Amino acid sequence: MNTAELSAKIRELARSRDAVILAHNYTHGEVQDVADFVGDSLALSIEAKNAKAPVIVFCGVRFMAETAKILSPQSTVLHPVPDSGCPMADMAEAGKVAAWRREHPDHAIVAYVNSTAATKAEVDVCCTSANAEKIVRRIPEGTPIMFLPDRNLGANVAAATGRKMELWPGFCPTHNRIEPRMVEEARSAHPGAPFICHPECLPAVTALADAALSTGGMLDYVRRSDAPEIIVGTENGILHRMRKEAPEKKFWPLSPLPNCPNMKKIELEDILRSLETMSPTVEMDASLMDRARAPIERMLEWSA
Ligand code: 13P
Ligand code: SF4
Repeated sequence: MNTAELSAKIRELARSRDAVILAHNYTHGEVQDVADFVGDSLALSIEAKNAKAPVIVFCGVRFMAETAKILSPQSTVLHPVPDSGCPMADMAEAGKVAAWRREHPDHAIVAYVNSTAATKAEVDVCCTSANAEKIVRRIPEGTPIMFLPDRNLGANVAAATGRKMELWPGFCPTHNRIEPRMVEEARSAHPGAPFICHPECLPAVTALADAALSTGGMLDYVRRSDAPEIIVGTENGILHRMRKEAPEKKFWPLSPLPNCPNMKKIELEDILRSLETMSPTVEMDASLMDRARAPIERMLEWSA
């Protein structure tokens, strides 16, 4: 089957299963095109929470599918390739976070949503890259903060808010690889073009950016900007949507092109198989989901 045939079959099956397909901005272009909704982690969480459909097919990495299930426990959540994990999420292991919490009972623990459900169950509030500054500002001045797992996002938020935070030593292997030198090379190849990037990049990279934004924020920037050319410092999947939404503009990715292999594991064939077999589903213990839901709901309330 070619892409068009596969996509048509998926849409037909999604209709008959009463399923909604959600996809992250970094997934393959054809996966984004077959989805009902494409967005960043925050928008996808809100979409999952408000989903009326009995079935959600989640195209993204595992922590995102877990978040969808936690926020929509009554839905069957299908995650077509369950081993598409986020290495950064696995860098803050729940047992270690629980132990750290016992030793530092005075700290508020903020967990980036790029964390496992078990880790979320140990923290006070979650955040995404779209609302991290807002969430940190809501924590009373004087309360010490631990930010996990992303030391880069944490450092970028600390700089923006002026809050001193302890940082867990995690990072995104895809964004951490981006070096200031690559930005300088792109700037000299495309003089005058603004540079936008994700706040998972090193602080030395975000310091060179015109804006450091969530994937959804970067897409807003692209829609609003008058610049005819934009240098993009994030995972390559986002270029598909940028080119679709602003076909008159030129987008220059950094070299080498950043790639998240896990986001690219889900192919159209996997979505089709998942809808045909109604598996694999995301399953978690009800009490774990209840504990992990509290900091996610707090985030949604604080960022509303
Ligand atoms: P966004 O919430 O900005 O989409 O980021 C998710 C992510 O995993 C970036 O690497
Ligand atoms: Fe995780 Fe980085 Fe991939 Fe985002 S790009 S899912 S943070 S490994």
